[in-house]
This record gives sequence, structure tokens and C-alpha cells, in this order.
Amino acid sequence: MMQKTVLVAGSHGTIGRAIIDTLQCQGYHVISISRHGHSTNVHLCTDMTNHANVETITHFLTPHFTSLVGVIQCAGVLHNDMHQPEKNVMQLDSVWLQESMRINVLPSVVLAQAVSPLLNRKSSVRWISLSAKVGSIEDNGLGGWYSYRMSKAALNMFIKNLAIEWGRKSPESSVIAMHPGTTPSDLSEPFTKNWPKEKLYSPEMTASRIVSMFTSMTHTDSGQLYHHDHSSIPW
Ligand SMILES: NC(=O)c1ccc[n+]([C@@H]2O[C@H](COP(=O)([O-])OP(=O)(O)OC[C@H]3O[C@@H](n4cnc5c(N)ncnc54)[C@H](OP(=O)(O)O)[C@@H]3O)[C@@H](O)[C@H]2O)c1
Repeated sequence: MMQKTVLVAGSHGTIGRAIIDTLQCQGYHVISISRHGHSTNVHLCTDMTNHANVETITHFLTPHFTSLVGVIQCAGVLHNDMHQPEKNVMQLDSVWLQESMRINVLPSVVLAQAVSPLLNRKSSVRWISLSAKVGSIEDNGLGGWYSYRMSKAALNMFIKNLAIEWGRKSPESSVIAMHPGTTPSDLSEPFTKNWPKEKLYSPEMTASRIVSMFTSMTHTDSGQLYHHDHSSIPW
């Protein structure tokens, strides 16, 4: 039987790396995309926030497509050396808002543009983009973190749209967004000090929850934002 292939994008990040380990332990063949590493036939080093790279990604995916069962897109950003999540509207900066949009939204868009031409009515591809619960508009009771919330909300709308489009084009395929749960990483590090220990999950635990969602999801799950416990979060 042909080994099933999964593409992990943003593969250099903490959660991306843990997902690769978990998938490989479960017997999947993993291919990856990241800004890091050297390109080979199973790894593509490219910037997924640049539309000019769509064709390169399609070219990389084409030989794997017959065995490709899914995509897990992990790239995202919350802060950098110069910008921390905003506490109030006065801290909202147009440059950082655009940068947050670029890194939280475009990798899923560019990757979907690379995958879409390969899909047909018989394809059955599962897609997970890692989003965040704080990107839910309805769930927002605390405020703050403007750029991250706004860019994850934009990602969520993209995922909802893609689920509708691919639902018509490839009815067995499924497209979801998922909140991985708070996990120690470069992204979360400044914000986990006062976080309750019982709500801080190891990368291995987070990866096993995401892979479990990945293996169990069907087209009936498509178009939803899922919590790491597999419950549905309102958009
Ligand atoms: N950790 C948490 O507690 C938590 C909670 C909620 C949601 N999330 C979401 O889960 C996902 C993975 O997070 P993580 O904790 O694993 O974070 P991480 O270790 O910081 O990894 C994030 C990845 O995003 C990509 N990325 C970062 N900056 C980029 C830039 N300037 N241009 C292009 N790509 C860039 C990178 O992929 P490459 O280096 O491979 O190119 C990076 O490895 C993110 O989407 C995040 O929003 C995480």
C-alpha cells in the first residue's frame, strides 16, 4: 500500500516540528516547507508569504500529489523584537498590523493557490491551518492583542471561504482552522510565565491533538474553527 504523505508548512516552528515527529511515528511520509533548511525532494525552502512562489510550491508538490492526504499549515506570528501585542488602540501600528496580516494570513493563501490547481472532484485532501481562539470575534471577551486578533480573524475568514470553494470543487476534501492550545514556543514565550500550568501543553501533547484531529476529520467538519479538544469554536 502507498505510504500516505502529509505536507507540514512552517515546519521549523515548535509546533510544526512536533507535528512532523508525531506524523512520522504514526507511519506518515512527511514533506515540509519552511524558510529554513536546504531544498530537497521532500523539503522546500521558500517564503510562503510571497505570491511569486506559488508556482515553485506547486512544482514541489506535484510529484507527491497522488499520495498527499493533507496539509497542516503552522506559520504565524504574535510578536517580534520591536512589537509586542497591543494593550490598547493607541499602540496599534499600521506597519505591524500589515506584518501580522502578511505572516498570519498569506502562508495559507499562497499554499492554497499552489494546491488548488492540483485538486479534482476525486481528491480527498484534509487541510488544517493553525489559527488561534483569540481570532474568534464572537469569543472575544477581553480585548487587546489587536494585530494578532485581527490577522487571525482574517485567516479564519479565508479558511471559511476556502472550505466553501473546495467543498464545491472537491467534495471529499475538508478545510478547517484549529486553535492548538497554549504551548511553550518562541511565539508564546513572553506570555506563558503567569499562565496556569495545567493549561500549558507540551509541543508533543499539542501535536498529538492536532494529528488526532487530522486523522479523524472528514468533509462534514469542513468550514469550522476547532479547539484543541476538538470542540467547535464560534468564528
Ligand atoms: N504556541 C502557542 O501557544 C499558540 C497558541 C495559539 C495559536 N498558535 C499558532 O500556532 C502556530 C505555530 O506556532 P508556534 O508556537 O509553533 O510558533 P513558532 O515556534 O514561533 O513558529 C512559527 C512559525 O511561523 C513562521 N514564521 C514566523 N515568522 C515568520 C516570518 N517573518 N515570515 C514567514 N514565516 C514566519 C515560521 O515558519 P518557518 O520558520 O518554518 O519558516 C515559524 O517557525 C502559529 O500560527 C500560532 O499563531 C500558537
